[in-house]
Amino acid sequence: MRQLATILHDIAALKRPLHPGVAGAMRPEELRKWKEAIALWRIARPDGDAAYCALLDECAAIEKTSAEFRARESCLRDAGVPSRILASLDAPRDTDALSLAREFCASEFRWLVLVGRTGIGKSVAAAFVCDVASRLAPVTWISAAECLDSLQRFDSAAMAANLRRVSMLVLDDLGTEGRIGPLQALLSARHDDNRRTVITANLSTAALRERLGTRVADRVRSSSLVLRAPTAESMRVPSDRRQVGSPATQRVTTESPEPGGLSTNDTETVPR
Ligand SMILES: Nc1ncnc2c1ncn2[C@@H]1O[C@H](COP(=O)(O)OP(=O)(O)O)[C@@H](O)[C@H]1O
Ligand SMILES: [Mg+2]
Repeated sequence: MRQLATILHDIAALKRPLHPGVAGAMRPEELRKWKEAIALWRIARPDGDAAYCALLDECAAIEKTSAEFRARESCLRDAGVPSRILASLDAPRDTDALSLAREFCASEFRWLVLVGRTGIGKSVAAAFVCDVASRLAPVTWISAAECLDSLQRFDSAAMAANLRRVSMLVLDDLGTEGRIGPLQALLSARHDDNRRTVITANLSTAALRERLGTRVADRVRSSSLVLRAPTAESMRVPSDRRQVGSPATQRVTTESPEPGGLSTNDTETVPR
C-alpha cells in the first residue's frame, strides 16, 4: 500500500481544478468559472476523471485500513497486550517465533509454546496470535507473574473463571516467580476445555517442563507447537547485530500433534 503523501502528490499533479465548495462558501460566479475550467481540463485530460477517482479510492482504502488498525490496536490493548509489544505489530519482521505463530493460527494445535532467551520475539509473536484470534473471539494477555498474583488474591474467583474460559489466553514471560500451583490448575483446566493457549518463557524447555510439572507438561504436549531457539540473537542488541533468522537462530521445531510423539534429546525435554 502506498503512502498517503505520495497519493496526495499524484492528485496535485493531475492539476484538476478545485471545486469552489472545497475552499468554503460557494458563490454562483465561482461555480460558473469552475465549470468552464473543468470542461477545459477534461478536454486536455480525457482520462483525468478516471485517474482522479482511482486516486481518491486509494486514499479511502488507506483511511479504512488505518481506522481498522486503530480499532484492532485498542481491542488488543483492552485484552492486556502491552504498548511496547503492540508497536512492533504494525509491520512485524519475519522471525522464527512469528512464522511459528502464523503456523499456529492456521492450525488445529491448541498450544503454542515459545521458549528461548530474551529478545528473540516471543512476546511479539504471541501478540500476533492475539491479533488474529481477536477477530473471531475474545482474547486475554497476561504476564505469568500478574496471573499468579491475581489467582492468589482472596477475590480471584471471577478472574480465574475468565482466564479459564477465554477462547485465547497468552501467558507471557513464565519464569520462576511464586508458587506455581494456581497456574498449573489453570493450564490443566484450559486443556480439559480444549481452549487455545500461548505460553512464552525465558526458560529452557527442560526448565519449563520442570516448572509446569510433568503432569501438566504431558497434558500440554498432546497438541502443541514448540519454538526452541535457545541461542538466537536478541533483537534488543545494537542494530548491526540485528539479524533475525540469522545462522545464530536455531531451527524451529514443530512437534507432531500425534499423542505420544514427544521428542526429547540429551539436554531438553519439550512440553507440548
Ligand atoms: N517480529 C518482529 N518484528 C519487529 N520487531 C520485533 C519482532 N519481534 C521482536 N521485535 C523487537 O524486539 C523486541 C523484543 O521482542 P520480544 O517479543 O519482547 O522478545 P522476547 O519476548 O523474546 O523477549 C521488541 O520490543 C521489538 O522491538
Ligand atoms: Mg517476552
